[in-house]
Amino acid sequence: MDINSITVAAYIVASLLFILSLAGLSKHESAKSGLTYGMVGMAVAIIATIALAVDNMTNLDGKWISIGLMGGAVVIGALIGLWRAKIVEMTGMPELIALLHSFVGLAAVLIGWNGAITGAHLEHVADDDRGALIGIHGAEVAIGIFIGAVTFTGSIVANLKLSAKIKSAPLMLPGKNFINVGSLVVFAVLTGIYVARDLKDDTTGYVLLAVITALALFLGWHLVASIGGGDMPVVVSMLNSYSGWAAAASGFLLSNDLLIVTGALVGSSGAYLSYIMCKAMNRSFISVIAGGFGIEAGPAEDKDYGEHREIQADAAAELLAGASSVVITPGYGMAVAQAQYPVADLTAKLRAKGVDVRFGIHPVAGRLPGHMNVLLAEAKVPYDVVLEMDEINDDFPDTDVVLVIGANDTVNPAASEDPSSPIAGMPVLEVWNAKDVIVFKRSMAAGYAGVQNPLFFRENTQMLFGDAKDRVEDIISAL
Ligand code: TAP
Repeated sequence: MDINSITVAAYIVASLLFILSLAGLSKHESAKSGLTYGMVGMAVAIIATIALAVDNMTNLDGKWISIGLMGGAVVIGALIGLWRAKIVEMTGMPELIALLHSFVGLAAVLIGWNGAITGAHLEHVADDDRGALIGIHGAEVAIGIFIGAVTFTGSIVANLKLSAKIKSAPLMLPGKNFINVGSLVVFAVLTGIYVARDLKDDTTGYVLLAVITALALFLGWHLVASIGGGDMPVVVSMLNSYSGWAAAASGFLLSNDLLIVTGALVGSSGAYLSYIMCKAMNRSFISVIAGGFGIEAGPAEDKDYGEHREIQADAAAELLAGASSVVITPGYGMAVAQAQYPVADLTAKLRAKGVDVRFGIHPVAGRLPGHMNVLLAEAKVPYDVVLEMDEINDDFPDTDVVLVIGANDTVNPAASEDPSSPIAGMPVLEVWNAKDVIVFKRSMAAGYAGVQNPLFFRENTQMLFGDAKDRVEDIISAL
């Protein structure tokens, strides 16, 4: 068997492992094995691709230099990846993921430019067939660069917003929808001109490509900058999808079937995740792709909701001891405080006293899909008391006490009651329908979307200020 057949076989195995990986990742029970399939698939893919590249090298003198360069890049990349993965905090994962998406985008731009300059995969094509293929090649180059550049700058803005290095409030350029649609039209026209020309050694072609690159870099920045904090989850999964399509476009340019398949898997699963999130957040999928959703509402106004009431840990413990049903709704603050362990202890203590304790999880609580589920599973909270928002929302009127632990936007009644709110329409956990609500947070500051929360000022709400972990531990001691 020659190396080409072995590579094809290895690529099929890797593709199957990636499909098994995605299937595994769709449920928390099988997520770990899903990750293992993905890692093994990627190892097979990298080894097969390098083996094929080495076999294709005809210049024997340069061969060892190329192998050394590739090996060096793999080792350096792997070491940086290991180091980042080891030090990253769970709460820092979304911004790291956004940064990794930007690398995929940048790689697609560089591969596109390389393809344009070298004519890359046309090298092996007979001269007679070149004419027909040059147009397809031009389209692959322009589309690959465009998707890659949009992904690159979009992901960098997402990284800056998620790490709070820039404000999460939406950028409101006048005529933003016109800018987005106009950029797409200009791109289509420029690509048409680029494809229609015979571009070999054509400086105008490079100028066209440079304009396409600059336009796409601008569009990526504008699309994500125009979107408010509350809608960032959908943006992150959309960028995940774009990074897949960027990789698939590179696969066409490099004539690498595995890259096409893998890119399509990431692209379509990311698009489906975005669709699920749009449904969960009551947003239109089409307007997400157009980068125009969630931004018609103006910036949050400073409304006067009156006075809030405070409670101390011992009084909260007393309330809990007298309750027969308790619902805990965790949010990003629980992750920051690493309060999941004392929360699990408190749950066990209350359950041992005969109190019915359950959790209500909002689909975008925290900063990652499934963020809260992962933390609670880590602290060994039993799965059967952890319910989705839709499963628990009707039960709040029959609940004695709700503990809102570091959640804010996901329990904000303005989403359903104030049509002018930037988070209007987003389904939320209707905790205010319970008898008593205790909110754990450090101050009266707004949530990630930058919107004040009228829940904090309701008659049946009391604020328990301080770090969530400390306050839960105080309650456990008082109990
Ligand atoms: P957020 O609205 O982010 O609010 C978290 C609250 O936790 C803050 O108000 C903060 O108030 C409090 N907090 C922070 N550190 C704390 C600590 N050590 N102890 C106690 N409280 C602490 O929370 P959420 O309800 O989970 O909503 C998530 C938001 O993130 C949504 O807007 C969502 O759209 C967005 N988002 C989600 C995702 C995904 S996929 N889940 C991705 C990107 C963005 P203090 O500062 O006053 O303590």
